Amino acid sequence: MKKYHITTFGCQMNVHDSEVLAGLLEKSGYSPAASIEEADLILLNTCCVRENAENRLYGNIGNLKSLKEQNPDRIIGVCGCMAQQATVVEKIRETYPHVDLVFGTHNLHELPRMLKQIEAERSQLYEIWDSEGEIYEGLPVKRTEPFRAWVTIMYGCDNFCSYCIVPYVRGRERSRGPEAILTEVKELIASGVKEITLLGQNVNSYGRDLQESNFNFAELLKEISALDIKRIRFQTSHPKDLSDELIQVMADHPQICRHLHLPLQSGSSRILKLMNRHYTKESYLELAEKIKTKIPAIALTTDIIVGFPGETEADFEDTLDLVQKVGYDGAFTFIYSPRPGTPAAQIEDPTPMDVKKARLNRLIELQNRISLQKNRAFVGSLTEVLVEGVSEKNPEVWSGRNTQNKLIHFKPTSKVKPGDLAIVRITEARTFTLEGELL
Ligand code: 5AD
Ligand code: SF4
Repeated sequence: MKKYHITTFGCQMNVHDSEVLAGLLEKSGYSPAASIEEADLILLNTCCVRENAENRLYGNIGNLKSLKEQNPDRIIGVCGCMAQQATVVEKIRETYPHVDLVFGTHNLHELPRMLKQIEAERSQLYEIWDSEGEIYEGLPVKRTEPFRAWVTIMYGCDNFCSYCIVPYVRGRERSRGPEAILTEVKELIASGVKEITLLGQNVNSYGRDLQESNFNFAELLKEISALDIKRIRFQTSHPKDLSDELIQVMADHPQICRHLHLPLQSGSSRILKLMNRHYTKESYLELAEKIKTKIPAIALTTDIIVGFPGETEADFEDTLDLVQKVGYDGAFTFIYSPRPGTPAAQIEDPTPMDVKKARLNRLIELQNRISLQKNRAFVGSLTEVLVEGVSEKNPEVWSGRNTQNKLIHFKPTSKVKPGDLAIVRITEARTFTLEGELL
């Protein structure tokens, strides 16, 4: 039996795409390889959201040369967001002739056919679709976890934030029909899944492109909440499209987790305008306050870009000010990375990298202080975790997450097993994790 190995870079969308690729491969008779050296097919599912992701990919492709030399029948493939960019494809074609297969984000369902073609013709195959096709329903998925599952509700993005490459490599927004989503969720529940995460670049604009139904994201969430599912999560929410209706649906349904990832990107209204984000410092703060009032247990997390072209010290201080005022439970922070072809890459950027790095460090320091403070508020309380099993970082303890998405470590007992919902008393708080004891 042929064996495959997939390395995934980037966001949850890519992780889930890799689950579909694995599903397609297993349906075609492949089985997972225990190591990359053992694989007959090696796939790199790539990300291009920042430049360092790109550089890591080239390093990885280079490293695969010797594996190809050891076994020339082995197929090496590159797919995902980077493969959707013409310049990258040219670079691979010219520099890495040991790559056999390149395909983009729009035609991954064709993988079995492409593999057959390579084997029959013993030649390289580069197939990149310029634009998105229809949505392919019913593709096999090899889920990586038995109790948590990701469900894509929409593909692509129409927002064109000026720094972001996603709309160029993932295409226009396309929502899956509500029936297809509900059917998938029902099947997952029947198979024992306790928590689902609905995925989209901007879930809040779900349904806008659906002709027949005028179903929006809040309505979809309401329908899913009516099913016998323990926990529902979703990402990502664009602040400009987060409706009062959605906040109400969350408030009304406790199985919708008390966590909202609400990317801020910048706290300066001037920079937000240049970023094409369609909100201001004031309107974002108002939204965050409204959410906290309506859903008091909510944990807010965010993404922030430091050093957008032309960001001044005053702009950056607006970011610090907003971070302080909102009080995030956690933040992913990035230094701006120019992406070829995006409008922001054309803006003059006089700020030296060391200034940007210093700003990033100040932001991280502030956020870490707030994260620890937020976590300390849990000490002494009881919280329900979905038990995941042995912790990735420390084999002595188990881990799980509560509704606020806090990662909690605890000593296992014979009474609990992975997939259980168990109550933990929080005993200690750290910046990124909590510790507790099972009741
Ligand atoms: N540079 C830095 N960070 C970026 N992001 C998206 N594009 C860029 C870029 N060009 C960040 C945003 C987004 C997250 C997924 O990645 O914060 O929310
Ligand atoms: Fe990129 Fe903006 Fe779309 Fe998010 S909403 S994927 S940041 S363009």
